[in-house]
Amino acid sequence: MARQFFAVSEVDVGRVVARLSELSGVELGGYRGSFLQNRLLRRLLVRRAGSVADYLGMLEEPGEQRAFLSDLSLGVSRFFRDAPVLRCFEEQVVPRAAGAPVLRVWSAGCASGEEPYTLSMLLREARRRGCVSRFRVLGSDIDREGLSRARAAWYGPERVREVPPALRESCFEPRGEGFRVRAEVREPVEFVRSDVTRGVPFRRLDVIFFRNVAIYLARDVLGRVHREFHRALNPGGYLVLGQAEGLAPEARGLFEAVDLGARIYRAVPAGA
Ligand SMILES: C[S@@+](CC[C@H](N)C(=O)[O-])C[C@H]1O[C@@H](n2cnc3c(N)ncnc32)[C@H](O)[C@@H]1O
Repeated sequence: MARQFFAVSEVDVGRVVARLSELSGVELGGYRGSFLQNRLLRRLLVRRAGSVADYLGMLEEPGEQRAFLSDLSLGVSRFFRDAPVLRCFEEQVVPRAAGAPVLRVWSAGCASGEEPYTLSMLLREARRRGCVSRFRVLGSDIDREGLSRARAAWYGPERVREVPPALRESCFEPRGEGFRVRAEVREPVEFVRSDVTRGVPFRRLDVIFFRNVAIYLARDVLGRVHREFHRALNPGGYLVLGQAEGLAPEARGLFEAVDLGARIYRAVPAGA
């Protein structure tokens, strides 16, 4: 059968997204229009739908609702992603934030847990060197499947290869065909399901990692999210963004750059 290609209009996207929200209870208003359109086209092709009306029929199946939602959260992550950023975090952020009785770091949009466990490994090392006393790492994501993989803390050999050898040895134990993060590294880490566009689940944070999630969000929503982050941080707390990301214009007066290359910012008092 010849493959059918057709365009989907903004109205089509709106109809499908509204129905998906209604059926699944997931709020999708914060997602960027072009991103939703692209994902919808993909679902139409995968399901070989003849028209958007056909696809709306398919969307009544709970399996299709789950498939679309899971396509929206392409939770790709890596251990020790962007090593120079992590080095800057260790050298410029950790020593300055270390005065906190319990250093609280949030990985917002943590996918399957690689970022929170990387932070736990780095902070354990900092504690061993006497730079930090106690710490907690909070991981959150909208995607249930990603979170259950994060809690299982099991990774295939190809994923663990990205961890520096000494830490691979001390922070993972062989389990089946792969490796599990050791209990000492898992213990300071907690996962919750939360949608950043619906508010911030934590307060009194010292550092927020919000990396490679902004691609999913509409510009005005991103501005609101960055402003919320400012409220959730302790005075002088840090925000770490992805390499291709920047502060939303609405939040520019609320943060100053610590290292622009590493996309690390520091909260300044509102109105300063
Ligand atoms: C590409 S991964 C980034 C993982 C990690 N931060 C990193 O940089 O390696 C993006 C994650 O953002 C999550 N996400 C997308 N929209 C979200 C939202 N509104 N609230 C919370 N998480 C969201 C996705 O489910 C996905 O797991």
